[in-house]
Amino acid sequence: MPRHLLLPLLLVAAVGASGGDAGGERTYIVRVDADAKPSAFPTHAHWYESAVLAASGGGGGWPEGGPLIHTYSSALHGFSARMSPSAAAALAGARGVAAVLPERVRCLDTTRSPRFLGMLSSPPSAILADSDFGSDLVIAVIDTGISPAHRSFRDRGLGPVPPRWRGACASGPGFPPGSCNRKLVGARFFSAGYEATSGRMNETAEVRSPLDNDGHGTHTASIAAGRYVFPASTLGYARGVASGMAPKARLAAYKVCWAGGCFDSDILAAFDAAVADGVDVVSLSVGGAVVPYYLDAIAIGAFGATEAGIVVSASAGNGGPGGLSVTNVAPWMTTVGAGSMDRAFPANVRLGNGQVLDGVSVYGGPVLQSGKMYELVYAGATSYSASTCLDGSLDQAAVRGKIVVCDRGVNSRAAKGDVVHRAGAAGMVLANGAFDGEGLVADCHVLPATAVGAAAGEKLRKYIASSTPQKPATGTIVFEGTHLGVHPAPVVAAFSARGPNPQSPETLKPDLIAPGLNILAAWPSGVGPAGIPSDGRRTEFNILSGTSMACPHVSGLAALLKAAHPTWSPAAIKSALMTTAYTRDNSNGTMLDESTGKVADVFDFGAGHVDPMRAMDPGLVYDIAPADYVSFLCNLNYTGQNIRAITRRQADCRGARRAGHAGNLNYPSLSVTFVADGARAKMRTHFIRTVTNVGGGRSAYRATVRSPEGCNVTVRPDRLAFRRDGQKLSFTVHVEAAARARMEPGSSLVRSGALTWGDGRHAVVSPIVVTLQAPVQ
Ligand SMILES: *[C@@H]1O[C@H](CO)[C@@H](O)[C@H](O)[C@H]1NC(C)=O
Ligand SMILES: *[C@@H]1O[C@H](CO)[C@@H](O)[C@H](O)[C@H]1NC(C)=O
Ligand SMILES: *[C@@H]1O[C@H](CO)[C@@H](O)[C@H](O)[C@H]1NC(C)=O
Ligand SMILES: *[C@@H]1O[C@H](CO)[C@@H](O)[C@H](O)[C@H]1NC(C)=O
Repeated sequence: MPRHLLLPLLLVAAVGASGGDAGGERTYIVRVDADAKPSAFPTHAHWYESAVLAASGGGGGWPEGGPLIHTYSSALHGFSARMSPSAAAALAGARGVAAVLPERVRCLDTTRSPRFLGMLSSPPSAILADSDFGSDLVIAVIDTGISPAHRSFRDRGLGPVPPRWRGACASGPGFPPGSCNRKLVGARFFSAGYEATSGRMNETAEVRSPLDNDGHGTHTASIAAGRYVFPASTLGYARGVASGMAPKARLAAYKVCWAGGCFDSDILAAFDAAVADGVDVVSLSVGGAVVPYYLDAIAIGAFGATEAGIVVSASAGNGGPGGLSVTNVAPWMTTVGAGSMDRAFPANVRLGNGQVLDGVSVYGGPVLQSGKMYELVYAGATSYSASTCLDGSLDQAAVRGKIVVCDRGVNSRAAKGDVVHRAGAAGMVLANGAFDGEGLVADCHVLPATAVGAAAGEKLRKYIASSTPQKPATGTIVFEGTHLGVHPAPVVAAFSARGPNPQSPETLKPDLIAPGLNILAAWPSGVGPAGIPSDGRRTEFNILSGTSMACPHVSGLAALLKAAHPTWSPAAIKSALMTTAYTRDNSNGTMLDESTGKVADVFDFGAGHVDPMRAMDPGLVYDIAPADYVSFLCNLNYTGQNIRAITRRQADCRGARRAGHAGNLNYPSLSVTFVADGARAKMRTHFIRTVTNVGGGRSAYRATVRSPEGCNVTVRPDRLAFRRDGQKLSFTVHVEAAARARMEPGSSLVRSGALTWGDGRHAVVSPIVVTLQAPVQ
């Protein structure tokens, strides 16, 4: 081989090694003590670069522009950079370095259940939306970007951009200069962290600009603050008004999620920019990692935002219905789970044996032949990949013209529909397995299809297994359209992630739930409603499900609350949302859990379902100052180093630890775990709480308690007399529980109750949760 051909190849290899994983380098996020910058360095960036070079032993090979990916200076001080693990370890011990975190990848908290229909969205905030509330506030949506030309984001009738706004409108492919307006006041994108790990993005599939190539960010932004759109209709379905929670609030889009995921270093850059830009609320429908707060970049970014007075509302995650699945659980964030609305989309399966199985669907194309019974096929006996309808697994001859039953799992629901469609089948039934339970999401599939629960799925598989060539299994799908006024509603969506809080059980999570099942909202013109490349359909609105959709409801509402009460802290706004939430459904029963059909509990819905009107006037709030979180972290037994990673504060924990336990954070819910040690018959604790009067002037509140079963709860004092607005009064809540005679070792028992402060006009409700934990023998 001639030499001149060899040389360039070697160079390419060397560059590849320094940029990729081959050289053992990865991205780290470094938090520094900003005041520790040696005066020799003119800027922090100089200091950071020199620190990385020193820790790496002077080794180079960085991409053009040096080792730094992002520098942070608002939500926190620090930077992200590519380094070897040994360089990161060296840096962790360096002077002025508070923390070094490895990069993590997060995901969007949507279940991807697209659908287009029309109308139906009757936002609970309709009355508030008529007012001018929210028009001076800016909601940051940290997501997949935004589709700026959508009618939901037009700015007609809005006043000038709030003068505090310091943000920018980045441009790029599909997002020309001038894409922002008085509604969409800012747009930025952060891809350096993504590209540092994954290599350059594929610019055919996604673009380096704030443009939304996915749909998720456009959808969540319009839920938080979309304008009234009338008529909002799709493919000739229904007509009606679509509107976000705060239709006059301003939006700023921070694109951090790409085809390869959402990278912590980019998410942190978005938090940093949002704080500097002057936003009022951050809406984050992204999550994933379950790590202590001091290793969690989202928790760290959210703390910086909270310190700046910004409300951070985040999705709880879609890992339900199993326990301990909730994410984004830091007590300074508002963690939102998902519930249903009183609306359903029945699409039942009628079988040849006369049975009818309940299903749901929002399929909106040509339907099956009326009156015809189709042969049913299930490929579970052939292979697992065929039972789950993976790409290439179906035998076309065996499925052509039939209805195929597919199990949930592995590939997305929409992708299964695509596989079945391409194989030439007439329809599809998507069946839950035992693990999925009875939770259903309605999808906008590319062929006639419906979804059924675990019990129906079992019946269906049995029926097909019992068929013979002489007597084949047959059935059809009957699409009934939209039913309104469904009872009971809301129910907790099966996928909604559940408590207890895996990081600090002393703070109950999720905080509350909001609508997140089958939500109609804006959709970009360049993406099909099923969210898969083969879907060539186009629609202005689409239906998605997930805690991703629940979170922006609360973000929009938080903006309205902040507009009405400009002096309220993020904690006060969260308190108003939580203490006014309801736990009864429209049949006046305790809310149910969709996955089981049984009564849901505080680990499913937290304080309850958000109630916009009541949240405007909560009477009392449980406020928290940023320094209180330091005491909380001290009482989690975090080290000073751990606490500095989150708070930039030098923590002196002695006082905080003397003062009590992590449950004494002034949270609007009360949660305690007792280790039910048989030797001690009684277990007790007490919580200290302080409430601030925001109900206006003189008022007399009285405590009423619903004690958790088997516990005694007393409140001292049980009357609070306020003389003026803004006045704070404290009380203690004493909880006493008795050990159970027989508990399986390692098992736990959860009992819940409630504390209500009432003055005749307001009811300020806090859940009380007592967990008895039997020791592992
Ligand atoms: C980039 O994306 C396009 C469109 O999705 C695709 O056809 C193409 O194969 C991709 N290119 C690479 C190098 O992955
Ligand atoms: C709802 O149920 C509660 C508790 O069972 C009961 O006290 C209340 O009167 C009921 N309300 C209505 C309107 O039926
Ligand atoms: C913190 O440490 C103290 C003393 O060892 C212990 O009593 C307490 O339970 C610990 N708290 C937590 C939250 O681990
Ligand atoms: C609750 O109070 C009653 C009456 O004082 C007492 O008999 C009972 O033992 C207490 N229960 C617990 C769990 O402390």
